[in-house]
Amino acid sequence: MLSEIKNICCIGAGYVGGPSMAVIADKCPEIKVTVVDLDEEKISNWNDSNLDKLPVYEPGLKEIIERRRGKNLYFSTDVNKEISSSDMIFLSVNTPTKTRGLGSGEASDLKYIESSARQVAKYATGETIVVEKSTIPVKTAETIEKILITSKKEKDPKSQHCIFHVLSNPEFLAEGTAISDLNNPNRVLIGGENKKAINFLYKIYSRWVPTEKIITTNIWSSELSKLTANAFLAQRVSSINSISALCEVTGANILEVSKAVGMDDRIGQYFLKPGPGFGGSCFKKDILNLIYISKFYGLYEVANYWKAVLQINKWQQDRISKIIVNKLFGNLSNKRVGILGFSFKANTNDTRESPAINICKDLLEEGANLAIFDPKVNEEKIFNELKNIMPNKNVDVEASKSAYESADGSDAIVILTDWEDFKIIDWHKVDKAMRSPAWIFDCRNILKKADLEKTNLNLWQLGNNL
Ligand code: NAD
Ligand code: UGA
Repeated sequence: MLSEIKNICCIGAGYVGGPSMAVIADKCPEIKVTVVDLDEEKISNWNDSNLDKLPVYEPGLKEIIERRRGKNLYFSTDVNKEISSSDMIFLSVNTPTKTRGLGSGEASDLKYIESSARQVAKYATGETIVVEKSTIPVKTAETIEKILITSKKEKDPKSQHCIFHVLSNPEFLAEGTAISDLNNPNRVLIGGENKKAINFLYKIYSRWVPTEKIITTNIWSSELSKLTANAFLAQRVSSINSISALCEVTGANILEVSKAVGMDDRIGQYFLKPGPGFGGSCFKKDILNLIYISKFYGLYEVANYWKAVLQINKWQQDRISKIIVNKLFGNLSNKRVGILGFSFKANTNDTRESPAINICKDLLEEGANLAIFDPKVNEEKIFNELKNIMPNKNVDVEASKSAYESADGSDAIVILTDWEDFKIIDWHKVDKAMRSPAWIFDCRNILKKADLEKTNLNLWQLGNNL
């Protein structure tokens, strides 16, 4: 019988598995934590002595890896071996939107969850706690439990040696602030029925999280809370973006409106920054999932309500592309456009669902040549994202090494990610490098009008009719 957690294994060494396990290893030095993945290159990068090669860029992550790797934190491809020696197994695999079959385009694809659950069923020994960390549809724990129990019987019908407890423990970290979010979470949510299993996980988190912030719920509330939290955050972004368009036509200033609205305690200041729409691997997929579940239960009005959040998000990207084309005399053929920022937000190298992808695609389709600079996204990643979205088209892009290189000879600069580096650009230098008439499209509202004073640059700012 399980009396203490000595070995933890996490299946999935991605943006969640890597950082979240690094923090557990850091806080619990007596627990051996191993993060496993099928992707050999990823694991080799997690193990690389050059910490600049870590597959995930997060402020503060390198330091933890340096402190704990090889002591009580390990990265491995030997999934089966690590499953067999673990007391607690986190499932932190990807749960993308289905691209075919029933629920295609909306429902979550649970093939990675299912295959890792099957592996756990096959190789786990003794009493094992299985923790869903991936974001999954409501009632997935039930599926995991069924897989674990039925596969166990197949393995050995008389076996009493394997006992599984399934818990839901969704992750709320945001990329770019993952380490501080994990160190100081707003809350830790544990959903489950088995008191002993809940207590083991509770004890791990209570090593550094104040106990009043660790809440326990039934398993389905936990699963649904995660989807709901993401949907609410995304809804706020769409709300402020819808108002940004209204500001442009009325002469109101979106930053002033956002501040005035957010100062109401009941509304709050967070997630009211206007921008080119939300990106990232989760908001869209989790809302699509919510839409699918609502329709499944016949709640079409609920589904339509959340659909509108996604529609505004896409519309915001489309309208930015149109504004750029119109300001450049309706023609982008043979024009060079500098793109500043390709990641979906600052402080991450993640480009999944980045608004930059759709906007760059639109500009390329208009005939522009793009010079893209992002402090943390490399040329290969940029090219692959664009090739993926326009497979049969010529992707005329170059990856610049600096903002100045991307401005060189360009007719326009489009700021798409709110990297700090872009706030300290010398716009006089940029002015000299660009072709006139030159436009700066500030889609993140990070520039001040004064920054461009005494330059010939034309400025367009989202939600601000200058
Ligand atoms: P990711 O794609 O970065 O990582 C998932 C990893 O799982 C991949 O490296 C993949 O190779 C691995 N994998 C898949 N099947 C496997 C198997 N059978 N055995 C071993 N490895 C396997 O994904 P992510 O961004 O870390 O997200 C993981 C989950 O966490 C998703 O459900 C997501 O919705 C959720 N989530 C993500 C974030 C975020 O900020 N990225 C935040 C909270 C929750
Ligand atoms: C989001 C949530 O914030 C996390 O709590 C959650 O765990 C995670 O999704 C997940 O489940 O994956 P993340 O997508 O990493 O985290 O980043 P956010 O800070 O939420 O930003 C998402 C997008 O919204 C970015 O493109 C960002 O630029 C945009 N955004 C955010 C705005 O345009 N305005 C804002 O005010 C805030």
